[in-house]
Amino acid sequence: MKDRILVSELSDVLNGKNIVLYGFIDSIRKLGKLTFFYLRDGSGKIQVFFNSADLNEKEYKIVEHLRNENIINMEGILRKRPKNQVKNIFKGEYEIEGKALDILIRGEVPPFEIDKINEINESIRGRFRYIELRNEKVRKKIIFRSNITRYIREYFYSRNYNEIETPSLIKSTPEGARDFIVPSRNYKGKFYALPQSPQLMKQILMGSGFEKYFQIARCYRDEDLRADRQPEFSQLDVERAFIEESEIYSEIENMFAYTGEKMGFDINIPFPQLSYDEVMEKYASDKPDMRNPLVIEDHTVQFSVLPIDFVQKAIKEGKKIRGIKIPICLSGSQVKKIEAILKAEGAKGLISLSRLNNSYNFTLSKFADKSFYDGFDLQNNETILFQIGKKNESVLNFLRNYLGKEYDLLKGVFKFLWVVDFPLFEYDEDEKKYKPAHHPFTMPVNPEQLFNKTGNYKDIPSRAYDLILNGSELGSGSIRINKIDTQKRVFEILGLSEDIQRERFGFFLDAMKYGFPPHGGIALGIARMAAILYGCDSIHDFIVFPKTTSGSCPLTNSPSVIEKDFLDELSISIKKDNSNEN
Ligand code: AMO
Repeated sequence: MKDRILVSELSDVLNGKNIVLYGFIDSIRKLGKLTFFYLRDGSGKIQVFFNSADLNEKEYKIVEHLRNENIINMEGILRKRPKNQVKNIFKGEYEIEGKALDILIRGEVPPFEIDKINEINESIRGRFRYIELRNEKVRKKIIFRSNITRYIREYFYSRNYNEIETPSLIKSTPEGARDFIVPSRNYKGKFYALPQSPQLMKQILMGSGFEKYFQIARCYRDEDLRADRQPEFSQLDVERAFIEESEIYSEIENMFAYTGEKMGFDINIPFPQLSYDEVMEKYASDKPDMRNPLVIEDHTVQFSVLPIDFVQKAIKEGKKIRGIKIPICLSGSQVKKIEAILKAEGAKGLISLSRLNNSYNFTLSKFADKSFYDGFDLQNNETILFQIGKKNESVLNFLRNYLGKEYDLLKGVFKFLWVVDFPLFEYDEDEKKYKPAHHPFTMPVNPEQLFNKTGNYKDIPSRAYDLILNGSELGSGSIRINKIDTQKRVFEILGLSEDIQRERFGFFLDAMKYGFPPHGGIALGIARMAAILYGCDSIHDFIVFPKTTSGSCPLTNSPSVIEKDFLDELSISIKKDNSNEN
């Protein structure tokens, strides 16, 4: 391509010079003898005009028949636009007076206009995602993500980490979600699994002596999808030998500071840390949005003086009365609206106490007197909204998030938080068994507690941590178990028999036998990071060809039926299941 100039390379030095550009035609407009359009290349857009009076017959025909989205190369003179015009309809410092133009490809007319994608339904946009991606705003998000991974890589290389790829066809070792599996042709009836994360591989690499590993790793999980989940996604995966929690925190904080600086946003480090117990108590969530100043407080003691049957009964049953105070005196109708919203979230009701000057408005005012109100330290123009319950975290979390957004209370742009001191296990009351709170490779603070004879492992503290940004879990990690007896004991508590341990994790336990140094790490979701730093709720826009919420790919129309011959080669036959026929 002869002396091609990119739109982003235009500068005063080229002013008045003849230049060559390549790209797409965008937004053609005609004004008398003038034909205007934008030329859009991978780096930006520039306004071009052709004056038909300057063109010979052949060139005139080409310009006359130009259509949006034609792919062209052209020559023209760069002109700096007069200052007073720069802010006109056409933005931009420069424009090009076109002199010659060639159409390289006259593609079909796209199914929708590139700058009107908001009017087009999701499924069409998904199918024609490559057209949608021609929209600068859409492409900008993908480029934003690309820049994030570029600076992450720069940071880790500058810190002498090795970027090591780990395999995608591995043994099924579920980490909490269902595995995607891949049939083997050579080993009929056997399957590979796609990794849910490179967790075991990176630990084994520590055993091989790589002390500083990172990878932007593809992960695959067959789980129910949400706005912040996709069946395949990328993680920044990090692992280090001979490391403590505090060093991992500062490594990740420095990485964010570096990336933030390069990308032009302020990230304050170090990030604050709160324990799991503290966040559950104060925010009823293990991923609280720290832009939200509201906190949850326990008012069971104040309520215990009220001679109300349901209050007394609840307290006797061990329930708590917890409330959130907001700096607004809510009206009766505002409280009713919030109550209706909370009921849809599973709340039984809502108790409110508000103060305007010296008068109090309380749902249960019949039973309360001044000394009761005095117990709340309620200032003028404040309201407390209360919930009664034993396990009402989800409602309180919802209420806190709702109030923060509805009353515009959120402060700050990026609020990071390390949540630390998680328990090692969660106990599933229905299945009557222990499950890992993170994953089974997490080191307990005190491994000896695993060997206690009480049979109670509910409150064993672990060395796991999560990184939260603006109320989303960006990543999680831990110091890992590196001793085989500890690892086997964790498996045992999780109910994995010796046989199952061997069958699923034999290779890993064997590797550990030969010695793993003390090590730890973390993984952060790349699309989540990009979405939150960009200010978007959904990770969808940061994935070049995302799956739908039901896990299908609208671009390639997968999953799809596999031809019988191919299945025969794999010795696979499909059970007839009419329920799933499309
Ligand atoms: P975890 O399962 O918490 O930890 O995942 C780490 C981070 O990966 C992102 N993430 C996802 N992003 C998009 N779609 C998904 N389905 C999805 N699932 C997870 C999240 C999450 O915080 N091996 C451990 C890490 C470690 O201990 O080092 C792991 O994978 O941002």
